[in-house]
Amino acid sequence: MTIGFVVGESKPTMISAQTARSLSVGEYVVIDSDGGKLLGLVERSFVSSAALTGVHNFEETVESKEIADMNSRDKSFTSKIGILGYLEQLQKGKAMIPAVPPLPGTSILEATKQDLDVIFDPDQPEWIKIGSLLRNTSINAKINLNKIVSRHLAILAMTGMGKSNFVSLIAKQISKLDGTLVLFDYHNDYADMAIPKINVIDAKINPRLLDASTLADVLEIRENADVQQRILRLAFTPEVKEAKQFWDILDENVALVGANPERKEDRHSADRVRDKIDDARHRFADILDPDVMDPIGLIKEGRVNVLNISELSEKQANVALAYYLQELLNDKKIATLAKNAKTKSKKRHRFESPIFVIIEEAHVFIPKGEDTHAKYWASKIAREGRKFGLGLGIVSQRPRSIDSNILSQMGSLAIMKIVQEDDQQQISSAAESISKDLISQLTSLNVGDAVLVGQWVNLPSIVHIEEVKGRAIGSDQNAVGEWALNHKLEKVAKESTQELIQKDLLMK
Ligand SMILES: Nc1ncnc2c1ncn2[C@@H]1O[C@H](COP(=O)(O)OP(=O)(O)OP(=O)(O)O)[C@@H](O)[C@H]1O
Ligand SMILES: [Mg+2]
Repeated sequence: MTIGFVVGESKPTMISAQTARSLSVGEYVVIDSDGGKLLGLVERSFVSSAALTGVHNFEETVESKEIADMNSRDKSFTSKIGILGYLEQLQKGKAMIPAVPPLPGTSILEATKQDLDVIFDPDQPEWIKIGSLLRNTSINAKINLNKIVSRHLAILAMTGMGKSNFVSLIAKQISKLDGTLVLFDYHNDYADMAIPKINVIDAKINPRLLDASTLADVLEIRENADVQQRILRLAFTPEVKEAKQFWDILDENVALVGANPERKEDRHSADRVRDKIDDARHRFADILDPDVMDPIGLIKEGRVNVLNISELSEKQANVALAYYLQELLNDKKIATLAKNAKTKSKKRHRFESPIFVIIEEAHVFIPKGEDTHAKYWASKIAREGRKFGLGLGIVSQRPRSIDSNILSQMGSLAIMKIVQEDDQQQISSAAESISKDLISQLTSLNVGDAVLVGQWVNLPSIVHIEEVKGRAIGSDQNAVGEWALNHKLEKVAKESTQELIQKDLLMK
């Protein structure tokens, strides 16, 4: 069905159109050009009224409105449509832009389900359904899971716009395919996901396996506390690392270093370090565990693994994350080498198949302008993971604070509502596949709407993501309701206490 025509000046990648109805931004249309049908994406859409343009006062506006209502030619529906390529080629997975721009007067047609299904709803098992196209709502939207495991993923949006919902959906789909997912859960958002055989584990750090400066981080010794840092470094000897009574021997060694008669001034700092050891050892007894020999062994292949890091301080979470990332990468490296080698390697590995790792609050762990352990390993995975079957997904509500290098390595992106300009700028410089016009759409998205670009989709698309049912945490709190309930309960408690007192008095 013809819905409009190409008008004005055309380019091979962009046309202007006049249409019979207002087109929605994000809608796909077909341009029936001489060289073959082209697929277009509406990037901007305007409506104007001839009579109601340039009116200067109320009376004039009332009159003009009457004229406008009578005149069927009064409204013009203008749009800018980006050309994505020849439809037939796109259906085969190739984007071919026409050599010459479509002639003005070319018809614009409604895109049919047949036109779009092949592109957005492929049948292969690696394509999983995540929702539907936002504007052509009868079309399923799918993503290619293989591409995010091999080329990484970023999910970016303001808070409350549906990032964790999307992560839950991906987790559910990976679970259905018996894939392995490791999800670092900083806010304890995912433990209650309704996923069969979900493996929820508390992240643990074995202090023996750390180096001195990392141990200092975990003990929360400040970086500029030079003397304390030095004392810990001297005291954290190979003997301590192997001692059965790890904490006691470490403490003894720190005391010993502090008792050096030639450096009397060290005594005080050594006491401070001992306090910190004592404090961390008791406060974080569940997390800092010198007897857990292989924290990575808790991760199960073929499962959704939720690694709870919500009890850890930011520094500890960083250390734990770095540790797990490093171990996973090493394991996958050994596994790949073993697969390719003719002779059997002596090094053992745990995981046979690819793993996808998701980091929530990525701006905390891979920040711009600051070197952290986790960032070092995340960037290594971003660069090398592809070769070894280790994919990285980063999730954040502050794209502007994420290391741009790592962000630019993410082959696929889901971007939801983002209003801040510096966030938008960071995204557009990290992802060349997202046009300025698509970026300008980000402010008008609703909860659960997302722009998908990159290798996991055949074409940039604006979609609505399905809501995952049964997620208790993450939903907005009903403060007023809960206050009222609390008040009611308090009242009931008070009244029944008073009743009891009165009964008591009567008895006496
Ligand atoms: N696709 C969706 N469709 C409908 N509602 C949704 C969708 N995604 C999320 N929501 C709603 O929005 C709420 C917040 O979603 P979610 O927790 O996923 O946001 P978030 O981006 O992870 O937020 P935060 O930055 O605070 O972690 C959810 O409780 C849910 O009610
Ligand atoms: Mg969230």
